[in-house]
Amino acid sequence: DLPESVTIYEVGPRDGLQNEKSVVPVEVKAEFVRRLLAAGLQTVELTSFVPAKWVPQLGDAEELIDLLGSAGTGRQRPVLVPNERGLDRALEKGVSSIAIFGSATESFAQANLNRSVAESVQMFAPVVARALDAGAWVRAYVSMCFGDPWEGPVPVDQVVDSCSRLMDLGCDQLSIGDTIGVATPGHVQRLLDGLDGAGIGVDQIGVHFHDTYGQALSNTLTALSRGVSVVDASTGGLGGCPYAKSATGNLATEDLVWALDGLGVEHGTDLDMLVETSVWMAGQLGRPSPSRVVKALSGT
Ligand code: HMG
Ligand code: MG
Repeated sequence: DLPESVTIYEVGPRDGLQNEKSVVPVEVKAEFVRRLLAAGLQTVELTSFVPAKWVPQLGDAEELIDLLGSAGTGRQRPVLVPNERGLDRALEKGVSSIAIFGSATESFAQANLNRSVAESVQMFAPVVARALDAGAWVRAYVSMCFGDPWEGPVPVDQVVDSCSRLMDLGCDQLSIGDTIGVATPGHVQRLLDGLDGAGIGVDQIGVHFHDTYGQALSNTLTALSRGVSVVDASTGGLGGCPYAKSATGNLATEDLVWALDGLGVEHGTDLDMLVETSVWMAGQLGRPSPSRVVKALSGT
C-alpha cells in the first residue's frame, strides 16, 4: 500500500550544488532556495558546514543562511554537519536541524571523511549528543548502501550495521543513500527487510536515490509501497558526490512529483513552479536539466 502523502526532502541546494564544477554565487543559491519554497517544498536541505577546502562549492554556508533570513532556519532547513567544528558553526547561525553523514563502506569513509567507519562514528557521537541537547532534529545519512565504486556490491548486513551504529546515537531519521545509483527494487526490498530486522522501521527511514542507472524512481516507488514516506529528491536532478567516482544526479523532484500526481499521492508542491525553477537554474549553470520531466514540460 502506498502512503497517502509523501514528504519530499529537497536536497538540490546541497547535494545538487556541491557537485557543480563552478561555485554558484551565493545570491543565486538564495534565490534557488526561495523559489523551491515558493513551489511548496517544506523541507529543503540548504548547505554543508564542512571545510571549504573539502567542498569549495559550499564554502559560503554562513552567508547563505544570513541571506535567507528567517527562511534559512527552523526544523525543516537541515544542513550537513560532519564534526563538532561544523556543529559550532551551524548553531552559531541559529540552525536547528542537522544531518550527519556516515558510510557503509571503509573505502568511502576514507575518501569522504578521511577516517574509518569506526572513527567516523566516534566523530559523530558528540555531534549528535550536543545537537539533541540543543533541541535540534538530527538525520543520519548512510552512503554506499547498495554498491560502492571501490568495493562493488555492499552486503545488506554490513549496511544494517552502519545504519544501526548511527541510529543508536539517537538520530531522528535515517536516510539510506544509493550514492552511485546502482540500486534495483529487489535490493531495496532486502535492505528494508534487514533494517526492519534490526528494529529500524519504515517510519524512521528516508530514501536517497541517485539516478545513474535510471532506477531512482522505481526504487523510490518500491520503498513507498513498503510504507516509507520520506523521499530525498533534487529539483532538476542536480547532484552527485565529489568524493565518489561515478556519482550522478539525484532523483529529480519533478520526476517524483509527476509519478506521485499520477498515483494520487499528496506532496504539496507545484510542478510547474519546480520546472520553471529548473529551467532558470539550468540557465545559471549553463547546461540543461537531466530530468526527463523537466525536458518534456519545458520543451528544452
Ligand atoms: P580532516 O581534514 O580529517 O579534518 O577532514 P581535520 O579535523 O583534520 O581538520 C582539518 C582542517 O579543517 C582544520 O583546519 C580544521 O580546523 C578545519 P587547519 O588546522 O588545517 O587550518 N575544519 C573545519 N573547518 C570548517 N568547518 C568544519 C571543519 N572541520 C575541520 N566543519 C572532515 C575531516 C570530516 C572535516 C572532511 O573529511 C569533510 O568535510 N568531509 C565532508 C566531505 C563532503 O562534504 N562530502 C559530500 C557530502 S556526503 C554526500 O554527498 C552523500 C549524501 O548525499 C548521501 C549519498 O548520496 O550517499 C549525503
Ligand atoms: Mg547524495
